Amino acid sequence: MTYPSVISSSNTKEVYPLPKELDRLRMPDHIAVIMDGNGRWAKAKGLPRTIGHTAGVEALKATLRLCSNWGIGALTVYAFSTENWSRPNEEVNFLMTLFESVLKRELSNLKLEEVKINFLGDLDPLPVSLKDLINESVKSTLNNKGIRFNICTNYGGRRELVLAAQKLAERSVKGELDPSLIDENVFASELFTASEVDPDLLIRTSGEKRISNFLLWQLAYAEIHVTDVFWPDFNADALTKALLDYQSRRRRFGGV
Ligand code: IPE
Ligand code: IPE
Ligand code: MG
Repeated sequence: MTYPSVISSSNTKEVYPLPKELDRLRMPDHIAVIMDGNGRWAKAKGLPRTIGHTAGVEALKATLRLCSNWGIGALTVYAFSTENWSRPNEEVNFLMTLFESVLKRELSNLKLEEVKINFLGDLDPLPVSLKDLINESVKSTLNNKGIRFNICTNYGGRRELVLAAQKLAERSVKGELDPSLIDENVFASELFTASEVDPDLLIRTSGEKRISNFLLWQLAYAEIHVTDVFWPDFNADALTKALLDYQSRRRRFGGV
């Protein structure tokens, strides 16, 4: 089947089959994505950065649909980092408004498709109306059996680790937790990703070869795929290439 360059992100129930070149038995269970390059995509077209972010939403919808159709268990995306507040106010405000309007518009469809939504990050500083909508979407999809869709918003790996350390310290001080019993499982249970498995594959778009404070703990053994494609251009072809790259790796987890 030939894939259209833009996968239908309308309310159709169209199902995209797994490309023949991929091995169904060796698919990653969990894919994490640093959706980067919206601004450069727009700049290359002589458009304002905001248009790049709007176009990025379409790429995200298509990617979620493909991952769901291709049997991926979880998709975790980096939408806004703890460092992104340093951008100009207009861009930050645009992004917050975009997150809210897209979530409002898409929620009923995501529910229909059995998507289980979660937001990872320190949600406190977000606008109240966005927080309310986030709470509603997490609560109303809690029992969904489809793909787990985790959106990292005001997420920072270091912040997450510090918050986990604080919570463990508080429990220890109260006498609820013996510090000598803090192991990797106990620590991981205090992270935003407590109920999630670690990503098998990390994809970063737009060619940057860095982690940018994303999932510092959870990516310990993820395979990394960097593509030069700007996020708004990410499509079935780019996802297939990332999965082929993943399937060509031999994961050793420190063994021989
Ligand atoms: C990623 O695209 C989206 C967010 C960080 C919100 P960028 O906005 O970082 O785009 P570039 O990297 O400037 O091209
Ligand atoms: C990482 O991209 C954050 C998101 C994709 C939300 P950035 O564009 O913020 O990262 P840097 O600045 O290139 O490291
Ligand atoms: Mg960027």
